[in-house]
Amino acid sequence: MDEYQVIVWEEEQLQLLDQRRLPHEVRYNSYEDHGEVAEAIREMVVRGAPAIGITAAYGMALAARQSAAADVAGLLEDLERAGERLRAARPTAVNLSYAIDRVLERARKPALETVEAVRSALLEEAHAIYEDERRANRRIGEHSLELVPQGASIIHHCNTGALATGAYGTALGVIRAAHEAGKEIFAYVDETRPRLQGARLTTWELQRLGVPHAVIVDGASGHVMRTHGVHLCVVGADRVVANGDTANKIGTYNLALAARAHGVAFYVAAPTSTIDLATPSGDAIEIEQRPDEEVTHVGEVQITPDGTEVRNPAFDVTPASYISAIITERGVAYPPYETSLRRLVLGGE
Ligand code: MRU
Repeated sequence: MDEYQVIVWEEEQLQLLDQRRLPHEVRYNSYEDHGEVAEAIREMVVRGAPAIGITAAYGMALAARQSAAADVAGLLEDLERAGERLRAARPTAVNLSYAIDRVLERARKPALETVEAVRSALLEEAHAIYEDERRANRRIGEHSLELVPQGASIIHHCNTGALATGAYGTALGVIRAAHEAGKEIFAYVDETRPRLQGARLTTWELQRLGVPHAVIVDGASGHVMRTHGVHLCVVGADRVVANGDTANKIGTYNLALAARAHGVAFYVAAPTSTIDLATPSGDAIEIEQRPDEEVTHVGEVQITPDGTEVRNPAFDVTPASYISAIITERGVAYPPYETSLRRLVLGGE
């Protein structure tokens, strides 16, 4: 497959593949200002939990370059402010905070005694976060192989491929790894209203990978399970909390309910950067509300009567009891997740 880079650091600029234009146009936007990077995350130029984490880390590297502070203390204050701005861009995906916290921790290292030393350390840390996500994606694919039978039919929700992670993919990486292992799988791709990440992005990636697939409307998954013999569902995550409750793209919970009703295995694939042990249960996860126009319009075309009220939660929470296993780069966690996730996250690889 032709590799495409989603996030590129080049000549002191951040370049982002503009995912709003896919699949019709491959175009990169350049950024030198961390405020514009925050806006790009909010507007979903780049999206997907790991990818926005990596992007925010580079946003912090840009903030360090933009700062006019004369000393390290002043620079750290500017970085704290930049971090808050980037963090606020999208509240549900924990990868954003994970990456910003990691970069700030690096910036505060006492050994960094000059503004220039902090600047280069931040860029180094952003590259390291990118590299860690790349490695994690591959490992998730490897760990998932034992869960995907030969000839499996799989339902996937949203987009969790390289576009969403910067490399290989998480849930889509599970599909990709099975395909690369010669398992002759078939993927049903939920279209994923309202932003159509499945119809626009997952199909684009699967076509390029040569994985046999068909797009279905979100409401078709129960029917497909009842009539087409689905073996498993696999989804990504924006935040997996301590008890295993999982926030992911709106519609994930409905898919999990349908899977339970049909006895279909339901897997979450996510790197440990998406696991938030500090939050005890899904009730405490902030769910991002997005603009009404995402629902009232398809592209430029309005589909609802003027004045129609809208609710547009971008994510939902699937209770842990509906999740068969959580596949991470450190291994596969099974219920009870309170203990298995802690072991994976705190116990090391
Ligand atoms: O609103 P999006 O497109 O950023 O939502 C993306 C998802 O919900 C993905 O499933 C999740 O971030 C995991 S990406 C590997």
